Amino acid sequence: MDSMNSTKSLIDILQLTTEEIDELIAKATDIIENPAAYAHKCDGKILATLFFEPSTRTRLSFESAMLSLGGQVLGFSEAQSSSAAKGESVADTVRTVSCYSDIIAMRHPKEGAPLVAAMHSLVPVINGGDGGHNHPTQTLTDLLTIHHEKGHFNDLTVGFCGDLKFGRTVHSLISALSRYPGVKIVLVSPEELKLPSYVKKEVLQKNNVEYVQTTDLESVMPDLDILYMTRVQRERFFNEEDYLRLKDSYILTPEKLRTAKSDLCILHPLPRVNEISVAVDKDPRACYFKQVRYGRYIRMALIMKLLDIE
Ligand code: NCD
Repeated sequence: MDSMNSTKSLIDILQLTTEEIDELIAKATDIIENPAAYAHKCDGKILATLFFEPSTRTRLSFESAMLSLGGQVLGFSEAQSSSAAKGESVADTVRTVSCYSDIIAMRHPKEGAPLVAAMHSLVPVINGGDGGHNHPTQTLTDLLTIHHEKGHFNDLTVGFCGDLKFGRTVHSLISALSRYPGVKIVLVSPEELKLPSYVKKEVLQKNNVEYVQTTDLESVMPDLDILYMTRVQRERFFNEEDYLRLKDSYILTPEKLRTAKSDLCILHPLPRVNEISVAVDKDPRACYFKQVRYGRYIRMALIMKLLDIE
């Protein structure tokens, strides 16, 4: 799948050019400022949400986005309540659901499942997270947040901390950021949860992005413009023992932020478990709940784009 224009699906963030991302950010910003102008853009349209894995923000923000555009929603929020439980393939499920809807948002534990879905769907498919691989609409949310907080992407030093191995939001955001000049990436994780080498080779090295890897968050804290915290992805571990050993590797506290820049922007795709202490929520640099809010508006902009609605 080379270009979104031929397929109208969004499976990987790199299907969008930086110009298209700028347009989506501009559209989302206009929606925030003039929501009434968009309230009927999707009248008569139906979004289907096919969630084979748990979700709060992604599924509900998609639904909220479509409802806010005047459209309607249907779907399922767990594989067990769909015919997947009877052994139906993703291809057949999507062939079916695309007869009932105009656009589909899908989350699946298997890497590549939304791509397979897009190949069999009659309508656009949006990847709402595929295993430990990608999560392009979280990245659009993250980019809108960074744009509103910083005004630009160029020359930012962005730290990623936590589970960089299984964290799909990390992989997609690094891909997106690698296209902006002067961006530096700081990778902070335990040895066992380092960024996969395919992302390092195919994204960071291929684009000559400057990056460092460390296990020590405090040593790099003063350098960061953005700190992207992540949850250790328990559901992707092969054994509980490893999860228990690694789950609290990094816990962001007000003390650890003492050496941070005064305009640091702290992001987290959420859900948070222990990795950010609730005491940090009061810090003006904590942007993760603003980030949640932006998720709805950027998805409104994306739904309109994929449905060719001006
Ligand atoms: C993330 C996900 O599902 O990958 N959540 C989200 O969509 N906002 C992050 C996570 O589950 O840790």
